[in-house]
Amino acid sequence: MPEIIKSPPPPSTDKRWKIVDATIRRHGYQKHALIEVLHTVQECFGFLDEQALRYVSAALRVPPSKVFGVATFYHFFQMKPAGKHTCVVCMGTACYIKGAPNLLQEIEAKYGVKAGETSEDRQLSVLTARCIGSCGLAPAAVFDGDVAGKLDRSETLQRLQKVMQL
Ligand code: FES
Repeated sequence: MPEIIKSPPPPSTDKRWKIVDATIRRHGYQKHALIEVLHTVQECFGFLDEQALRYVSAALRVPPSKVFGVATFYHFFQMKPAGKHTCVVCMGTACYIKGAPNLLQEIEAKYGVKAGETSEDRQLSVLTARCIGSCGLAPAAVFDGDVAGKLDRSETLQRLQKVMQL
């Protein structure tokens, strides 16, 4: 029996999701359509945000960590907010209880940028996400497309420093 693929409901009633859905359908809900679908979202909305990434992840059945990774790695994708570098701190339950709020605090203190914002020099955007699908690595974060896990405060700052140099 062929597998019946059910698409998750789009994040809102915004008609632009119909265009995104059409791209997803055209590619038969295949995982390899990820970049193409993200392009469509960006064309339609001008940027990618957590809600959009989660939707694409569910529709293509690609782990959120991968979707966040791809979206923050390629410079042609515009994350909202949009700094030159992006750090996504997972605040899902597993990461939260393993200290994710401390990591976020550390980043905020060091770079003077709060979650959901971009630094004044537009070098760094900090985002949070609900579970990125790497709970075994908790606490986890994505630095410019690279998923890193079992983070502590100093490792987090080291990683950030490294991506900020690029
Ligand atoms: S809660 Fe952070 S990866 Fe699942």
